Amino acid sequence: MSLLQVEGLTKRFSGLTAVDDINITVADKEFLGIVGPNGAGKTTLFSLISGQLPPTHGRIVFDGVDITGWPADKVASAGLVRTFQLMRPFESMTALENVAVASHHRFRSRRDARRHALAVIERVQLDRYVNAPAGSLPTAGLKRLELARALALEPKLLLLDEVLAGLVPADRAPMIELLGDLHADGLTVLFIEHIMAAVLALSERLLVMHEGAQLALGNPHEMTQDRAVVEAYLGEDYA
Ligand SMILES: Nc1ncnc2c1ncn2[C@@H]1O[C@H](COP(=O)(O)OP(=O)(O)OP(=O)(O)O)[C@@H](O)[C@H]1O
Ligand SMILES: [Mg+2]
Repeated sequence: MSLLQVEGLTKRFSGLTAVDDINITVADKEFLGIVGPNGAGKTTLFSLISGQLPPTHGRIVFDGVDITGWPADKVASAGLVRTFQLMRPFESMTALENVAVASHHRFRSRRDARRHALAVIERVQLDRYVNAPAGSLPTAGLKRLELARALALEPKLLLLDEVLAGLVPADRAPMIELLGDLHADGLTVLFIEHIMAAVLALSERLLVMHEGAQLALGNPHEMTQDRAVVEAYLGEDYA
């Protein structure tokens, strides 16, 4: 069963076609990696799918409903949630309060929202920072906080935009393990990432974007053998 269908999705900014005729179908519980060089249109694709930007052309069907043109908050309420490449927590609020703001979208009472937020904080193993101001968290903590704020909205489909970027290698492995656990628990994920080891460890299929377009879509390990993909993106390490 497909959870997301993207048909002919295109975004033009004056002269530039940032996203150019993307067609993907994402199965329920799938983990789809998305790679491509800087400026390939990956983040713009997320902005279109999650309703932050209206598409120039194309259609987005989520969970059987045509959500094309819906505003982001309505898309999120339907269960399609993204994280941002540039994190923007409320810095003076604690980690728990930051997550509780998101939990409030699901739970009306303050008490229930806090209880839910606490469970999400535990899920992403941020317990030790629960009462720390978000602005004081180290990068690895901020990445988990961004993830927690998205999970607090209880997504069916989660769009992750470079959640590993900026992490030192020692902090990457635990984050990759957490993402694998969330997927194993049944979350459907679209995963933009430059770190190929993480992409290959987690992705069931891989979308390669180049200059806004869909260069390849398929088995991640086969992709690394595809000459066009290697030339466009993966570089000599994979040649
Ligand atoms: N709001 C905007 N207005 C005009 N051009 C934009 C806008 N947003 C993105 N672009 C352009 O669209 C292209 C795709 O950008 P996008 O951020 O989607 O790339 P990306 O694949 O996410 O890159 P990166 O790997 O560096 O994050 C770039 O050329 C970018 O400059
Ligand atoms: Mg980007």
